[in-house]
Amino acid sequence: MAKIKAGKGAPYARILGVGGYRPTRVVPNEVILEKIDSSDEWIRSRSGIQTRHWANDEETVAAMSIEASGKAIADAGISAEQVGAVIVSTVTHFKQTPAVATEIADKLGTDKAAAFDISAGCAGFGYGLTLAKGMIVEGSAEYVLVIGVERLSDLTDLEDRATAFLFGDGAGAVVVGPSQEPAIGPTVWGSEGDKSETIKQTVPWTDYREGVVERFPAITQEGQAVFRWAVFEMAKVAQQALDAAGITSDELDVFIPHQANERIIDSLAKTLKLPESVTVARDIRTTGNTSAASIPLAMERLLATGEAKSGDTALVIGFGAGLVYAATVVTLP
Ligand SMILES: CC(C)(COP(=O)(O)OP(=O)(O)OC[C@H]1O[C@@H](n2cnc3c(N)ncnc32)[C@H](O)[C@@H]1OP(=O)(O)O)[C@@H](O)C(=O)NCCC(=O)NCCS
Repeated sequence: MAKIKAGKGAPYARILGVGGYRPTRVVPNEVILEKIDSSDEWIRSRSGIQTRHWANDEETVAAMSIEASGKAIADAGISAEQVGAVIVSTVTHFKQTPAVATEIADKLGTDKAAAFDISAGCAGFGYGLTLAKGMIVEGSAEYVLVIGVERLSDLTDLEDRATAFLFGDGAGAVVVGPSQEPAIGPTVWGSEGDKSETIKQTVPWTDYREGVVERFPAITQEGQAVFRWAVFEMAKVAQQALDAAGITSDELDVFIPHQANERIIDSLAKTLKLPESVTVARDIRTTGNTSAASIPLAMERLLATGEAKSGDTALVIGFGAGLVYAATVVTLP
């Protein structure tokens, strides 16, 4: 048997830079109320959302990703040619092939970086981060760009009062690169396909094409079931990620959960017994739920506003359609 040489990677990986892009159009709850019977008070108190951003025709999945990635690359202090792989997590790029990641890699000016898309809903950022870490340690890339991007306004039924107010658009990106010390903890992740019906696209695209349905597909969810799953099961997963990283809640500086509902965020923080000193991301208020983009967007904002700082220890957890989840502890860039 011939001897195969293993790749030579870095001892560990870390997030080196972060960038975000929020579409220019800010959409307050009043606009949502034009199509559903609800109130600003109800939406704020039940979800925490006050405004969200909706993309215009020019703010495509690729365009928003390129903006966010350019900032992340600059923040990391590297050049685009050094990026060895581009991972894009999205469920709202409506052209199945080729992957949008290849267009992004090209337009950013990478040197033929490996590029591919993944579909892991609101856990997409954690899935991408985990792949990136493995690639860097194994040696197939020195720097990996992980992008979470969504145009959920394209996949929202504005007449469905259970979901119309929830979703927003945007892109968040991080550059992951080599580290001499552990700066991304073990990922606690998984899927629960037996609950796949709780958040889903209403019908396959083909049903729309073939005229089986008149309405373009949208995301639908069993809000209460997902809410209960998130507060009970995700609290356990978050604790497992802390334990796996050997970090106590007292040692934590920042908590960046998926921005799905502010009441879920509060409940997780309470169950985890996070001390007052821990900064909790509440980007949901002005960004809504942007699925794969939500964690990097929230991370970018906390760092930009000074609520979090470089070197802080942060617990990140994403969860959503699948159902899927991914949690890990990271050192902030
Ligand atoms: C969607 C969500 C905000 C709804 O909040 P909720 O408190 O669960 O609301 P419910 O669906 O139980 O409805 C409560 C009441 O409000 C009403 N209601 C529902 N939507 C409403 C709206 N937009 N405006 C006003 N009232 C509304 C319901 O009819 C119900 O009335 P009833 O008590 O008279 O029957 C919440 O379930 C949620 O955030 N779920 C999880 C979302 C999530 O994490 N998704 C992850 C996906 S990535």
